[in-house]
Amino acid sequence: MQTWDAITSRRNVRSYTGQPISPEHLDQILEAGRRAPSSRNTQPWDFVLVTDRDQLQELSKVWVGAGHLASAAAAVALILGDDPEHARRAQFDLGQATMSMMIAAADLGIGSGHAGVGDQELAGQLLGLPADKTCAFLIAFGYPADRPLAPIKRPDRRPFDEVVHRGRW
Ligand SMILES: Cc1cc2nc3c(=O)[nH]c(=O)nc-3n(C[C@H](O)[C@H](O)[C@H](O)COP(=O)(O)O)c2cc1C
Repeated sequence: MQTWDAITSRRNVRSYTGQPISPEHLDQILEAGRRAPSSRNTQPWDFVLVTDRDQLQELSKVWVGAGHLASAAAAVALILGDDPEHARRAQFDLGQATMSMMIAAADLGIGSGHAGVGDQELAGQLLGLPADKTCAFLIAFGYPADRPLAPIKRPDRRPFDEVVHRGRW
């Protein structure tokens, strides 16, 4: 895919075929996250890759909106430390890493879907996190079960001219 096609094709995919993602493609997605920019280049993240079916099914229970992890081919857990200096801007940094990984996945025809984390204790236990680390977000990855990724002509978004202000508000 071309970059613009990957950007316009990405959507939140929440049902996946059973097809596994190759280790090379998973590493490419993770590499996209590692290359993301961060405030002062602090790189406040660690990524835990999960591909084990039982572990994915258990992870799907950490949040009411995380059910799609159960059928995903893989998930990446975005891990933050407890450094308050990092915490202030870390959510923004994580957002950039997330989008980089999602676009890299779309480029490969792989769907992705965010999931929040409600039960930190369960997430920490399932991911073997040290006490000073939290799982900020999860991203599920897998080949879409509904339809292949393709550029979306009319995305469910506010109108361009309502969102974009030129020069002044
Ligand atoms: C910070 C953030 C948290 C989100 N959390 C969840 C979630 O827990 N579960 C879920 O199914 N989708 C989650 N989403 C996905 C949004 O619902 C999705 O981006 C939005 O509905 C637009 O969907 P679309 O990109 O397919 O148009 C989250 C998205 C963001 C940016």
